[in-house]
Amino acid sequence: MSGFNPEVTKLRKNDTFFNKGKTMKRRAFIGGVATGMAGMLLPKLSLHAKAGNVYEIIAEHGTHYFGGTDQKPSDMMLYNAQSPGPMLIAKKSEMLEIRFKNKLSEPTTIHWHGIRNINEMDGVPELTQAAVEPGEEFIYRFPVNDAGTFWYHAHNKAWYQVAKGLYGPLIVLDKGERLDTSNIVLVADDWRLDNSYQIDEDSFGSLHDWSHGGRLGNWLTINGKSQPEITIARTGTIRLRLINAANARVMQFALDGRGEMEVVAIDGAPCTPFRLKDITLGPAQRLDIIISADDATRLMEISGRQPIIAADFLPEKDNKVKQAFLPDKQAWYPRPDITHARQIDIDMQGGAMGNLTQAEFNGEKLSLRELAQKHNKLWALNGVVGSYAHMLADVKLNEIIVLNVYNDSQWPHAMHLHGQHFWVRTKEFNNAPFWILRDTYLMQPSEKAQLIFVADNPGMWLFHCHMLEHHAAGMGGVIAVS
Ligand code: C2O
Ligand code: CU
Repeated sequence: MSGFNPEVTKLRKNDTFFNKGKTMKRRAFIGGVATGMAGMLLPKLSLHAKAGNVYEIIAEHGTHYFGGTDQKPSDMMLYNAQSPGPMLIAKKSEMLEIRFKNKLSEPTTIHWHGIRNINEMDGVPELTQAAVEPGEEFIYRFPVNDAGTFWYHAHNKAWYQVAKGLYGPLIVLDKGERLDTSNIVLVADDWRLDNSYQIDEDSFGSLHDWSHGGRLGNWLTINGKSQPEITIARTGTIRLRLINAANARVMQFALDGRGEMEVVAIDGAPCTPFRLKDITLGPAQRLDIIISADDATRLMEISGRQPIIAADFLPEKDNKVKQAFLPDKQAWYPRPDITHARQIDIDMQGGAMGNLTQAEFNGEKLSLRELAQKHNKLWALNGVVGSYAHMLADVKLNEIIVLNVYNDSQWPHAMHLHGQHFWVRTKEFNNAPFWILRDTYLMQPSEKAQLIFVADNPGMWLFHCHMLEHHAAGMGGVIAVS
């Protein structure tokens, strides 16, 4: 048996937050998309091979075995009936096309986390598209200009839909690169299961979770399995692409035997490589690390009191020496000079034990108590309970932006910006501050950070906490670039 072991608090259900928005013009249905199971068994269709990479994704209610096939399967929401959803692989500089069909009984969208996307393909309901209603289809089509480790997930009622299984990995390969036993994707999640391996439904919407660290689970999976055996190259080096798909859990990984890992990419973007003994991964964050095959016996999750086995590595038979494919040694683009930058202050407040007493909600000032009890709202940015309509700033195209973000709360938050990565001077690795490019930054309580970017991607971009309950409870807003 494995898994996390937090105290699980059961509180009342409430899912009133999303889906109350304005109606937007719906995209026309796709005509003639392949129906039936073909796409599910073989997610990569060969249609339009020249135009790039075409996938069919169906969101549907389904089941997944957490406890082995002798146990009762869990009720899930899945992409193509799998957990995680199918691995989407695209080549850098090509188009990626996803023919998406919603067979769920509720509206949904897909967000392509970390992709510097075209705004109308970003998958944010009410903001960049109308939610895809049950039975509807939507074609996501966009270029992928950066190679790296990304992921995709539902963005409507994400705190519920992602926790029910709607996410998957998205890998953009560099020229000459392929995924093999020295280039491996590891998607980590923590689920809250009850004794019969069912997703704990009663705890969804728990005010306690929403005001504290978010929905924490008690069951760790890597690529959908508990303690899977991952086949790796027997000799040489291996690149592990770790993705944290959890709603709220900050994970920490180390190799058994404490072998070193070399970080080569952060949130998809390559970096100047550096070494670590263990890595911290906030919700939605990714790290690509290089390890030596000799050090690869197992991966441990070490954030709790008891280290947990995350995965075992199994050397393949073939003993040819393999070398991991390495990305560039520097980020996609340099850090801009901020002398004349536009400064935007963002104060994050709220949650348990915080100093938020009242905040604006739908144009009204309400006490935190009222916000919590009547509306399940607990967090604010700049004194306003966030929603898809909460404007944080309106900036000009190509303006250099500094977000001065202040975490004035007692909780860490994984702050994510859509549409572009930002530079941040981080102390998270080895405690020595240095600049990195990333799309989700884990801010500690009381931390102040500057998130720097050139607003060269037009559109309405969400900035929010990726602890999905925090976002649902108000920690989010929009930066408009035009
Ligand atoms: Cu990965 Cu707005 O989200
Ligand atoms: Cu948060």
